[in-house]
Amino acid sequence: MTSSFRQIDPPQRLLMGPGPVNAHPRVLRAMSADLLGQYDPEFTAYMNEVMGLYRPVFGTENRWTFLIDGTARSAIEASLISLVKPGDRVLVVNFGRFGLLLTEILTRIGAEIRTVDAEWGKTVPLDELSAAIAAFEPKVVATVHGDTSTTMAQPLDGFGDICRQAGALSYVDATATIGGMEIAADRWGVDVVTGGLQKCLGGPSGSAPITISNRAAEHIFSRRHTELGIQRDDLEQGSGARIGSNYFDLAMVMDYWSEKRLNHHTEATSMLYAARECACICLEEGLPNRFARHAKAGKAMTAGLRAMGLTVFGDDTYRMTNVTGVYIPDGIEGERVRTRMREEFEIEIGTSFGPLQGRIWRIGAMGYNAMKHKVLITLGALEAVLRTEGFSLPSGAAVDAAMEAWGA
Ligand SMILES: Cc1ncc(COP(=O)(O)O)c(C=O)c1O
Repeated sequence: MTSSFRQIDPPQRLLMGPGPVNAHPRVLRAMSADLLGQYDPEFTAYMNEVMGLYRPVFGTENRWTFLIDGTARSAIEASLISLVKPGDRVLVVNFGRFGLLLTEILTRIGAEIRTVDAEWGKTVPLDELSAAIAAFEPKVVATVHGDTSTTMAQPLDGFGDICRQAGALSYVDATATIGGMEIAADRWGVDVVTGGLQKCLGGPSGSAPITISNRAAEHIFSRRHTELGIQRDDLEQGSGARIGSNYFDLAMVMDYWSEKRLNHHTEATSMLYAARECACICLEEGLPNRFARHAKAGKAMTAGLRAMGLTVFGDDTYRMTNVTGVYIPDGIEGERVRTRMREEFEIEIGTSFGPLQGRIWRIGAMGYNAMKHKVLITLGALEAVLRTEGFSLPSGAAVDAAMEAWGA
């Protein structure tokens, strides 16, 4: 009989799904560092370092670059509820489950929503977006960068400029691409971008980096209504509508991360250590090297899957580099294959949602797992499972093709 009092001792799984992935050991070590009080000068110095470290990761000079305590969704919700008040018009670029998540959060906020849609496996062309903005005149335009549900990455060069020209603020969910594909907040001209640690940044979930342009910050501070018990003379109150959440009130969170150090929440110390270590590792590796490593891993995975005779899902031009969708072949039980991968090889691959449920697997190579040997091991294991499930395939071809695609 197993006891619930035994020490945590999870199996050593290789997490090759769409995230979470295995955290870099340096991140896990950083998380075990001693705790500090949230106003300890050593700790506030770490907070300031985090702000500096995430600016290049987001491709920005934005002063307001910091962390939201919570999973990636917490930063999405904080952004939308702080930008949008009930009745505001918001245009959502919708090409998968996470575009639908944006509309779901905005519905709860009471926004007037319109979507510009692409079928799952495709992205939205910028001219369609421009036309939709002209027709709807939204206050905010929201999109996902890489939607893990479909494995597609929405092209964002020019996105922010289109929004600015129309007088709209822009929001991008970069949870699944940050640290793996280029995030260019300033070049894209976007106002708010958010991420998460558990994918290409190679950390655990539970902290969500965010960057906010001065323009968006001004708008957020115009809605500053500091909670009564912590009001101070140096916090001028805004005339705009009160933000509809206390925990996700970015005006208060920004006052906490500023030199004002407003006493809002208690910063999640160990998660801040993790987020800091993730950014340090990224910048030590060099962002271009890191993007190239993810691109190689994606290319090798795709080549290997195709060499097995499988069909890769979605539009090749806009594929995310760090996660690949692949059709489950006819006559093969998708969930049985995933179970056997886990039980016999200790490898996790992803299932999918909505119209793709039961039709594709999603196989990732992100962060600490975007490595040649991990891609090859995953392909070798999948080949063995598929062969013994009765799928006929050329033996060894997947690993050979992946090695070749990776390049010596
Ligand atoms: C594109 C995208 N956005 C948001 C999320 C939600 O992240 P979390 O589960 O950390 O809240 C995910 C998670 O898979 C994601 O892939």
